[in-house]
Amino acid sequence: MTKNRKQPEFVTGLDIGSTAVRVAIGQVVGDDATGNDAIQIVATVEVPSDGLNRGNITSIENVVSSIANALESAERLIGYPLQNVWIGVSNSDVSSQISKGVVAVAKSDGEISPEDVERAIESAKAVNAPLNYDVLHVLPKTFTVDGQTGIKDPVGMTGMRLEVETQMIHGPTAHLRNLTKAVYRTGVDIEDLVLSVLAVGDTVTTARQKDLGVAVVNIGGPSTSIIIYEDGDVLHTASLPIGSDHITNDLAIGLRTSIDIAENVKRQFDRNILDKIPKREVLNLQDVGAPQAEHIPKQYIAEIIEARVSEILEKVNEEFKRAEREGLLPAGAVFTGGGAMIPGIVDLAKEALCLPAQVGTPVGVGGVSENLHNPAFTSAIGLVKWGATLSKSPRKRRKFGMQSMKVADGVKKFFRSIMP
Ligand SMILES: Nc1ncnc2c1ncn2[C@@H]1O[C@H](COP(=O)(O)OP(=O)(O)OP(=O)(O)O)[C@@H](O)[C@H]1O
Ligand SMILES: [Mg+2]
Repeated sequence: MTKNRKQPEFVTGLDIGSTAVRVAIGQVVGDDATGNDAIQIVATVEVPSDGLNRGNITSIENVVSSIANALESAERLIGYPLQNVWIGVSNSDVSSQISKGVVAVAKSDGEISPEDVERAIESAKAVNAPLNYDVLHVLPKTFTVDGQTGIKDPVGMTGMRLEVETQMIHGPTAHLRNLTKAVYRTGVDIEDLVLSVLAVGDTVTTARQKDLGVAVVNIGGPSTSIIIYEDGDVLHTASLPIGSDHITNDLAIGLRTSIDIAENVKRQFDRNILDKIPKREVLNLQDVGAPQAEHIPKQYIAEIIEARVSEILEKVNEEFKRAEREGLLPAGAVFTGGGAMIPGIVDLAKEALCLPAQVGTPVGVGGVSENLHNPAFTSAIGLVKWGATLSKSPRKRRKFGMQSMKVADGVKKFFRSIMP
């Protein structure tokens, strides 16, 4: 690696998924104010992940080697060593709850300062976390000043009593620790841990969509995560233990073939799953890696995929119902994750959810990487955008709940102290 050149400032996103470990590296090139291509992605890397099962780490050694692999490839691409990374957390056991905090305004003239806001949010954190969970994010939703509700930014206002309603997001302590440990073992430093779907949601939607009401649905391998925005804020997050791997399993059983062949059948399926496909259109399993020729009607494959996609969408809709937004999100649903690549999924979603639907691509992010518009990369790219935004603006840091730094810092210090 070149040592004498001055290293440009990179922001690195590391998405440790159950299917793949993905790295995206970006540079801030423009002004956020224009909103257009403020971030350029300069490199993307994908390696198969090992040592993870359903989002949980089952072998630290294997995860470390997958991450090290991905980071080394990325370093070769950019020609510089990587120092800091933003890590995504996509465990299905993340929990979210509403919590309130209240403080007396400190200044005698009653003008609310950023420190008052900080203290109010801090006091909201006092709510009991579920046992063996750590705070990942504290997202302030609205503030109340002396009884006046619905305030978005109280700094500079006058009052005596400041209340805040926040959404607290907790992650399982053991998982966060293992994740942190695995990344430190590769020798890079951690900027922070971010709930993946938050970074994805922020990247594939516009401010206007978030104001109107929009959901982002990330269909991963073993799980599907959901985030709903309204009035510009996070309204609801959820993670469902069902994902695109279930389709592969169904295909393996339905076609009586191996998981690997079933995976190829799914990935290479080139017909819209909603189409009425003529009987004579068949897929030869030998063309997707099977040892012997076997001809399967494509209509049969489409039916298997459609049945499971419908079930996933049904569960997604149940989550919309839970948030009281079933059929009520004017900006619709945006699909991301490897599972969003199934042809016809958007048409099926429009029907099943009674909403506009689309596949998400990053907003305000440019570059020449072929993965820029790959739905499976929205998480890694989202982490770059998240990191770039937060590194620049302490105000945004507060808005996006990065007080969690303190918690993550605790975990980070612990592992740094035991690093070789
Ligand atoms: N071209 C494709 N067509 C259909 N499905 C695909 C395609 N490419 C990948 N997938 C599926 O997408 C899923 C993986 O998605 P993704 O890579 O987003 O998951 P992950 O981030 O590793 O998982 P998680 O976030 O749940 O830990 C797998 O089930 C895979 O089979
Ligand atoms: Mg993922």
